[in-house]
Amino acid sequence: MKELELKVFPQREEPAREMNPLPEVRRGAGVELRKARLSDVDAIYWLIRYWAEKGLMLVRSHSHLYENIRDFFVLEDEDGQIVGTGALHVLWRDLGEIRGLAVHPQRQGEGLGRWLVLAAEREARDLGLPRVFAWTLQVGFFRGLGYQVTTREALPPKVWSECNACPFYENCREIAVVKWLYPREADL
Ligand SMILES: CC(C)(COP(=O)(O)OP(=O)(O)OC[C@H]1O[C@@H](n2cnc3c(N)ncnc32)[C@H](O)[C@@H]1OP(=O)(O)O)[C@@H](O)C(=O)NCCC(=O)NCCS
Repeated sequence: MKELELKVFPQREEPAREMNPLPEVRRGAGVELRKARLSDVDAIYWLIRYWAEKGLMLVRSHSHLYENIRDFFVLEDEDGQIVGTGALHVLWRDLGEIRGLAVHPQRQGEGLGRWLVLAAEREARDLGLPRVFAWTLQVGFFRGLGYQVTTREALPPKVWSECNACPFYENCREIAVVKWLYPREADL
């Protein structure tokens, strides 16, 4: 039998990565909302990573972003920079999660975060999804958009699907907030 030949591949030099390559953005530049494209993944990655390094959200790998790109929206300014991102991920027939919500640090407080959440909610309604929730440390922001704080136990176990991979698993500080997009049968 022929011996399996072991081939030695040359090691690839990893390019030195700058820790924070978020580009400067022009504050007044007009912004357009659209669904994300694969070519947006690097910009989405760095935006989320910027806030994840500050402990405000969960970092997302490139692999996760490519696999879930159809969940994402982006806000693009007129210079072509991605200044915000957010996603709606369907978990079950009556539950969706708002994920990956991040606005560029130089474009905070301009209503962009609210725009992204409303876009995710509109998509949820179009899909017939009655309820959305988020894990967050920005409870005041979500409250202002009609979300209520809920307990982990009030949500189905599926909402913990990503917790196993989370570095804060043991010391999770995130709070669950939920919003019904249609009146609940019980409320009618
Ligand atoms: C949270 C975040 C998405 C908000 O985006 P933003 O574009 O700065 O917020 P907006 O300008 O759309 O704010 C909408 C409203 O929420 C209020 N708001 C914003 N952040 C708030 C906060 N942390 N607490 C309380 N209220 C807040 C605003 O004052 C505004 O109120 P108004 O309608 O009365 O004027 C943004 O600050 C961000 O990227 N944070 C870092 C990442 C993060 O924490 N993501 C959330 C993960 S779930």
